[in-house]
Amino acid sequence: MKQQPCYILAIESSCDDTAAAILRNDEVLSNIIATQDVHKQYGGVVPELASRAHQQNIIPVVDQALKEAGVSKSELSAIAYTRGPGLLGSLLVGTSFAKSMSMGLDIPLIDVNHMQAHLLAHFIKDEHPTPTFPFLGVTVSGGHTQLVLVKDYFEFELIGTTLDDAIGEAFDKCGKILGLGYPAGPIIDKLAKTGNSKAFSFPVPKVPGLNLSYSGFKTNVINFIHKNMQKDTGFIDANLNDLCASIQYTLIEIIFQKIEKAVDQHQVSKVVLGGGVSANSGLRSKLETTAVQKGWNIYLPPLAYTTDNAAMIGIVGYLKHQKEDFGSLKEAASARLKF
Ligand code: KG4
Ligand code: ZN
Repeated sequence: MKQQPCYILAIESSCDDTAAAILRNDEVLSNIIATQDVHKQYGGVVPELASRAHQQNIIPVVDQALKEAGVSKSELSAIAYTRGPGLLGSLLVGTSFAKSMSMGLDIPLIDVNHMQAHLLAHFIKDEHPTPTFPFLGVTVSGGHTQLVLVKDYFEFELIGTTLDDAIGEAFDKCGKILGLGYPAGPIIDKLAKTGNSKAFSFPVPKVPGLNLSYSGFKTNVINFIHKNMQKDTGFIDANLNDLCASIQYTLIEIIFQKIEKAVDQHQVSKVVLGGGVSANSGLRSKLETTAVQKGWNIYLPPLAYTTDNAAMIGIVGYLKHQKEDFGSLKEAASARLKF
């Protein structure tokens, strides 16, 4: 007998993107994201404004996802949503919406860990290759920087993490001091392309084991800029591209040294990248070059699945649906959800 396709509606609202996607099994039929511009003027995400914007966006975003996919509500098999980690007020909007809709339609609810989803996005069916287990997962985003040993779809072992700021946060804060917009990560990436990464040098912090730190680096950059601006108010303008290239070089170096160490220590040859900063062209090309030199197999997500999106929540929804691993209305949103 032919198996019925599984239609998943996925909802993501962990930070400042309201997103919905429809998947038919492991295939993405629609992937809608409403980015909240309201935060730009503050140079960072304002949690209360994020929750309000999610409330405004969620119905139109879900509606558009269904329409673009050509799927009706009655065809849905389950609703997957981001339970955490993230901003609690933001998570609550997606969680409450998903719970109400699953109750109204009387279909299963599937809770998804946002950080698992960043890595499991690689199992979305498209032209990109899919990794096999085990692999080293590297999640680089605005809220997290983690090294994870992934032994199976839902067997994640955290082997290293930032002790303070996340890499995306460091990109954004360095960008802020340079007077760039928010989020500054993609702007630094663009300007760095025509800059000299050796123009300025910043030390890579020494942190034991596989953990890492970005806060000292950020402070170094801020002090360095202040000192030079006191001497010459045109310093940033005159050196912007070189500053971006040098900052980006060190930000990548900090995580890269730990990736190399983790590969050696854990004897894995597959490195899988996920999270917003995996869009960074410098990080991608450094991984590509090293993979050739060291014989690693690397997996870089398609750009559409790097920054927050609901397709990645949908693929986890599909994988859990296959195991009938359903959530319940009792599960609360969790800002610090662990693997
Ligand atoms: O995964 P994500 O969308 O949200 C979180 O879960 O945090 O990551 C957002 C982060 C922001 O800090 C943003 O500046 C960074 O990803 N980002 C980049 C690039 N694109 C996004 N950082 C460096 N280069 C990029 N091209
Ligand atoms: Zn994310």
